[in-house]
Parts: sequence; C-alpha cells; structure tokens
Amino acid sequence: MKKICPSILSADFSKLKEEIIEVEKGGADIIHCDIMDGSFVPNISFGAKIVSDVKKITDLPLDVHLMINNPEKFIVPFHKAGADLISVHYENNLHLNRTVNQIKEMGIKAGVVINPATPVFMLDDIIEYADYILIMSVNPGFGGQKFIANSIKKIRQLKNKIEKNNYKCSIEVDGGIGVENIKSISDAGADMFVCGASIFDSKDRSGVIEKLRSLIV
Ligand code: DX5
Ligand code: ZN
Repeated sequence: MKKICPSILSADFSKLKEEIIEVEKGGADIIHCDIMDGSFVPNISFGAKIVSDVKKITDLPLDVHLMINNPEKFIVPFHKAGADLISVHYENNLHLNRTVNQIKEMGIKAGVVINPATPVFMLDDIIEYADYILIMSVNPGFGGQKFIANSIKKIRQLKNKIEKNNYKCSIEVDGGIGVENIKSISDAGADMFVCGASIFDSKDRSGVIEKLRSLIV
C-alpha cells in the first residue's frame, strides 16, 4: 500500500502533540522526521530528544531522514529514540554499505537518499541492500520548496531498475509534493510520499490527507 508521510518540519512546534494527533487521526501512515545539522544542509532542525518525545505521542512508524554529516555516529541514538526507518544520504557517506548494514542490524529499515543532482545510476551498488530509496525532489534543507520536475524521470528510472532486477526496495519521494502533483509522482512509481507544507500549512489537514490518498489509489 502507498503511504502518506507528513513531515513535522512544517508543523507548529509549540503545538506538536496536537498536530501529530491530528494527522494521525486524519489518516497519515508514517511520521517523517527531518534531522538537519547546519553543515550538510544550510539549516538546523531537531535531534534525537524530539524524536523520542514524538515516539510517546504516536504509534505511527517514525521515518528519520538524516541530513547530517557523520550520520553513522547517530544511528544508535536515533534507534534508541524510536526510529522505525532511518535514511542516510549517498552524498556524504564514504562507507555507505557499512552504514546501511549498521541500520539493518538494529532491526529497522534502512533507506538511502539522493539529492536532486545525484543520478540514479550512482545507487547501482547499494539498491539491493537498501529497504528503500529516497529521491529528494527539492534541495534538502527547507520545507515549502517547489518540486523539481526532473525528479519524475528519476523515479521512473529507479522503478524500472527495481522491477528489472526484482529488488525488494520501496521508493520514497520528498519535497514539494501536494495535491497538484502527487498523482504523477505515484504514476512514475513512488510508494511513499513525504508532504510537509501541503499538509501542515493547510487548515484542513485531514481533508488534504484524504485528497492526497484519493489521488494515489
Ligand atoms: C527537506 C525535507 C523535507 C521537507 C518536505 O529538506 O527533507 O522532508 O520537510 O517539505 P515540503 O513538503 O514542504 O517540501
Ligand atoms: Zn525529509
């Protein structure tokens, strides 16, 4: 089943509990947590403490997207905080295969992320080890940016590669997704859709989630 993953980066942190409960009741499948260090990306968000507090609020799986340098040092703290999925970027990982194994050895799902300017073929020697690939459809660092159009081509390329080789790997897409484009992203082959601003900037979060879902089934 395709999954809607609200990104709490766009939530109001003074009302985080209410907002998470609202999207959970509204039909969200996974809560996406964006971890930024001000070094790998030009913004700072939050760390493992917030993730462990979010874990107390919701029973939904927590999808932790690490936009940080030296991610291998933080797998254990985020696992302890309650992450059910952890993704790391291809671009800043010298020993990606080791980091992916490190995540999987904790009994949780491991994802590999590529930035908009990283071609899909760079994943050729890691796809078979990853539980999911996350295609960034904006440059990471901020919510509310515009979807980069050539991401559609990359999703199709990845989907073809997975089908051709019979890999057991899902496709997640992150950035600039809303009711206006989720159908084309889904048709290209995506399984998991990270949505920040389109859900949290709306007054009717449940209505948006319902509409998003109606466009991908
Ligand atoms: C961007 C983050 C995204 C972001 C998505 O660096 O990885 O998860 O929160 O937000 P929207 O949907 O607003 O582009
Ligand atoms: Zn993200």
